[in-house]
Amino acid sequence: MQALEQLAPPPSLGLSTSSSTASVSGAILGSTLRALDAALQARDICTHTHCQRVIYYSLTLGRIMGLSEDELVTLERGVFLHDIGKIHMPDSVLLKPGLLSDTERTVMQQHPSIGYEMLRHNPLLTDAAEIVLTHHERYNGSGYPLGLKGDDIPLGARICAITDTFDAITSIRPYRTPMSVEDACNYIQSERGCQYDPEIVDMFTALPSSQWQEVRRAASTSTALNSLFHAA
Ligand SMILES: [Fe+2]
Repeated sequence: MQALEQLAPPPSLGLSTSSSTASVSGAILGSTLRALDAALQARDICTHTHCQRVIYYSLTLGRIMGLSEDELVTLERGVFLHDIGKIHMPDSVLLKPGLLSDTERTVMQQHPSIGYEMLRHNPLLTDAAEIVLTHHERYNGSGYPLGLKGDDIPLGARICAITDTFDAITSIRPYRTPMSVEDACNYIQSERGCQYDPEIVDMFTALPSSQWQEVRRAASTSTALNSLFHAA
């Protein structure tokens, strides 16, 4: 097991490049991501900060799993953008302080497809767009929007499914009290092979809940994420 400091993610979105052509591509991508970041921040600050924490958790988990640098870059971009489709949600749904009705939930469940449509034409974001589209799929096939099953779900989306939930259930919501980190880890374990990829759950729970508590504290206070796009 690596030390937590080694797992702590310095996000870059893979924008550091050496050749001039790659630098131009990186600059264009960086400005695109910066614009999307600003739009989400203006639209819903809660979703924005949620996405930043989920990046942190996902890169931590990705490093525990031993992902390559290229895989980490794809993961980082996909997770950063995973809820970007919520920009199109009506205020009555996106900003509702209580539980969603069935009709409102159906509207909300369109956000992966909307996000995918926003991104899929950008050749630099093809893999990230697939994570956006599939981050609410479930390992047993009961998710949405496609009902994908098992390894048909992109790896980044299978990781995001766990880290997205981890942040959601440990965060304050107007309609429920947050779970403790220990209870959240137990919940994720209980969904092993159902909602979540069993092998990735095993990697997640390989880090004790006390250490996930430390990761959560770091993700909530980190200023490193504020420099996400400065490498472009
Ligand atoms: Fe989502």
